[in-house]
Amino acid sequence: MAVGIFDSGLGGLTVLDVAQKRLPDVDFLYFADSAHAPYGVRDADNIYDLTHNAVHDLWARGCDLVILACNTASAAALRRMQEAGVPDGKRVLGVFVPLIEALTERQWGDNSPPREVEVQHVALFATPATVSSRAFQRELAFRAIGVDVEAQACGGVVDAIEDGDMILAEALVRSHVDALKRKMPTPQAAILGCTHYPLLSETFQQALGSEVKVYSQGDLVAESLADYLIRHPNMLGKGEGGFLTTGKPSVVSDRATQFLRRKINFEAA
Ligand code: DGL
Repeated sequence: MAVGIFDSGLGGLTVLDVAQKRLPDVDFLYFADSAHAPYGVRDADNIYDLTHNAVHDLWARGCDLVILACNTASAAALRRMQEAGVPDGKRVLGVFVPLIEALTERQWGDNSPPREVEVQHVALFATPATVSSRAFQRELAFRAIGVDVEAQACGGVVDAIEDGDMILAEALVRSHVDALKRKMPTPQAAILGCTHYPLLSETFQQALGSEVKVYSQGDLVAESLADYLIRHPNMLGKGEGGFLTTGKPSVVSDRATQFLRRKINFEAA
């Protein structure tokens, strides 16, 4: 039995890591489409095709439930995949909704009309494709009114992380935070809207200042998945857990081991 976790590369490990701690009895099959990362500079049709192929691969390997632990894939492909129709007994879920429910102080599945919420000035850091999709703002508008969102497309950060160049990644984060602050000098909250960014959460927090509440998706998605599996215990799937990549397994394994600080062995997808 395994739940599928998908990302373009290593970012989804930030979700997997918390999910494994929260749900120690659940097996996870992680799929990193490293050969095609980063997704954030691709167009929506291309992201859809890549995501569609990876999710179908995970379904074929016995995962009934696949989590898109990738905001870029969630923004460009989730709604389209769901509208195109999902095979019987299979599900695919994204990472936006748990985050927006936390930001807007909603319980899971609260579908009441949008209302005013505590937070009014929100900084969104995400990939160029996620920012241009405006998917975050669309999902937020279903739940909250009067929230001003300033989005910063963080070009280069995912590439640097995938290359293991954390010095460059940190420098890019600082310059993207500066650029955001020129547009919105005093955000109350900041959303790390890319699952790679929690690997740099300290850099974001330092650059933003301690008064800004930084939201990242690991805990929120893991909690929402735990809740989902209690309500749908039949979605645990078949097959075994593990780590798959379309990239070079030895290189991807080394980086993953460095990020999670435990031995991770990727195999060729
Ligand atoms: N982790 C992906 C996300 O959450 C990164 C996308 C990319 O490959 O650019 O958006």
